[in-house]
Amino acid sequence: METAAPLWERSALRDAAGETLRPGGFALTDRAAERIGLTPGRRVLDVGSGLGATVARLRARYGADAWGVEPSAVQAERAGSRAHLVRAVGGALPFRSGFFEAVFCECVLSLLPDPAAGMGEFARVLAPSGHLVLTDLCAVAGAGRELGCGSTSIPAAGQSCADRAMPVAAVRALAEAHGLDVVVVEDHARHLRDLAARLILAGEAGFPCGRGLGYYLMIARKGG
Ligand SMILES: C[S@@+](CC[C@H](N)C(=O)[O-])C[C@H]1O[C@@H](n2cnc3c(N)ncnc32)[C@H](O)[C@@H]1O
Repeated sequence: METAAPLWERSALRDAAGETLRPGGFALTDRAAERIGLTPGRRVLDVGSGLGATVARLRARYGADAWGVEPSAVQAERAGSRAHLVRAVGGALPFRSGFFEAVFCECVLSLLPDPAAGMGEFARVLAPSGHLVLTDLCAVAGAGRELGCGSTSIPAAGQSCADRAMPVAAVRALAEAHGLDVVVVEDHARHLRDLAARLILAGEAGFPCGRGLGYYLMIARKGG
């Protein structure tokens, strides 16, 4: 039954967001790709690829040698064989150390059961001077949430990406703990509000859009 499926596997999200199952669509992907100077032939990994939209985008628009990992059989089947996807989880990437020049992780970090293990894997598979691009929900100071902007703690496991949304300061601390220098942090909460509004208008009640949530873009660089 579709209502029992996680939001990212429901048709309501595809109807509202298209092939990119996240706030911001390709706007933030392109912003990051241009900021890191992505050029043809660069090896890029997209963690939690969903329907493979970012992999296809990075291949078609930037000529990148892009690959994705996606654990969900449902998503992988929908993505199809053209999608350059490998079935795996973000916390155990089946690639050798230093293999990729960039790792993208869009609206997925807060879904990982162990975000620290995930960050460790992102850093491991990155080549020296490679870039990590993160976009995700974040916890911000606000009514109904305990975590403030300055907190560096990681919330306990929950049932949705909103439950595990971390303060940006915690994501930064995690990146730095794994040898990544944070070079860009941007607030893109308006993309979260836009998608939430489209889902509410479509009658979808399961989207996290309460107070105390934001959306960010972070780019971090591995030491050379
Ligand atoms: C909100 S969707 C985003 C998909 C894609 N990044 C996009 O923006 O279109 C979250 C994706 O993360 C995947 N996911 C869930 N748990 C994961 C894990 N432990 N490791 C990697 N991906 C995971 C889900 O199957 C889903 O496809």
